[in-house]
Amino acid sequence: MEPLAAFEVLGTAEGRQDPYPYYEAIRAHGNLVPLKKGSLIAVGYRECAQVLREPALQVQDGTAFDRVYPDWRSHSSVRAFTDSMLYSNPPKHARQRGTVNTDFTPQQVAWLHPVIEGMTTQLLDRMADLGADGSAVDIMDEFASRLPIAVVSAMLGFDADRQVWFRDISSAIAVSTDGFTNPAALATADAAMDELADHFGDVITRKRACPAADIVSALVQLHDADPAKLSHDELIGNMMLLLTAGFETTAFLIGEGVRMAIGNPHYATRLRAQQPFAAAYVEEILRFEPPVHVTSRWATAEVTVFGRHIPAGSRVVVVLAAGNRDPRRYPDPNRFDPDRANSQPLSFGGGVHFCLGAALARLEAQIVLPMLARRFPHIALADTATYRDRWVIRGLRTLPVATGRAA
Ligand code: HEM
Repeated sequence: MEPLAAFEVLGTAEGRQDPYPYYEAIRAHGNLVPLKKGSLIAVGYRECAQVLREPALQVQDGTAFDRVYPDWRSHSSVRAFTDSMLYSNPPKHARQRGTVNTDFTPQQVAWLHPVIEGMTTQLLDRMADLGADGSAVDIMDEFASRLPIAVVSAMLGFDADRQVWFRDISSAIAVSTDGFTNPAALATADAAMDELADHFGDVITRKRACPAADIVSALVQLHDADPAKLSHDELIGNMMLLLTAGFETTAFLIGEGVRMAIGNPHYATRLRAQQPFAAAYVEEILRFEPPVHVTSRWATAEVTVFGRHIPAGSRVVVVLAAGNRDPRRYPDPNRFDPDRANSQPLSFGGGVHFCLGAALARLEAQIVLPMLARRFPHIALADTATYRDRWVIRGLRTLPVATGRAA
């Protein structure tokens, strides 16, 4: 199968259901190969890593959107992402990221350890109640999607009683990261973004009147002191990004971790027993089933990566999930093996846009998976798990379980 044909399948329901065979079809032609004129695809580990670090290969920002989607400003969800650090390039990117960078270091997020344990205990209590009569409980709905939004809401200083609303609205907005391929979903994303921006307006007013020790209060103070450091639109865009970026992604990481442990009880046993195993297990879940499968970069000037010439103006599709299964980097890559040494999967990206929340996501998963394994030693699948019909951010839609007797 030609690379372009395989790539096109990835845009269909069949490809989204199981994209891995199509990654291999592309890899059969090379690790960084042309798709068609003006576009290439990276599926090798070191090629993906290098593309993300190459200064001439940048994210698609407002200026780039102007060339390809002149109408993009009429979509509030796309506008908000474009105002955030994720869709900004240097030097604007560093200015925006610098406003929150120190809040997300591993040392800084460590204070959340007891907070995450407390929130997890509450959610596990709720699951135990829901499953006590033998009813199936959907881990994705009742647990995996609730914890990340609760944690990030606490960091940002958002109302605890709005978490389910935040979760649903973030899901709708996240669809716009799939680009302009799905106009119907984009309309829903825009409506959700308008609603969220209204709510953020109220939050900003409250934080301005009554600042607290949270990230949004600090960002509002920064904006008020000098809007050139963070404009109003950038404030809204980054508040939206911080809320949404870590929610579905971390939920998918936790969900996959639970699914794998149910299917392989010896991992559940190890999760219950030793804390160091949780870290290795989470890294292998990240490698094997990464929540973010793909990102893209655009060449602002011509550049050569591992011998492949990339003309200015080209798009490079960076398939992180394929790089994570590159046989040159990982022996027997399609085997799940938490005992791999020095794994360093590509799942959090690389270069200047390396995931801001990587330490937080790892911490959450490393805490909750052992807690869940201890609390529900007899947990079992109650029905088939289903995957969402998406490619860029891919993961479980449902994971129905019978909790069994709680410990
Ligand atoms: C397992 C969970 C997560 C995964 C797999 C993940 C993955 C990623 C990836 C691949 C990128 C880079 C995208 C690119 O280069 O185009 C990214 C960026 C980002 N992530 Fe995460 N993420 C996760 C959790 C989080 C969390 C918990 C937060 C924080 C609240 C977060 C906040 C961000 C932000 C703000 C960016 C943009 C950084 C920048 O542009 O400088 N992420 N994430």
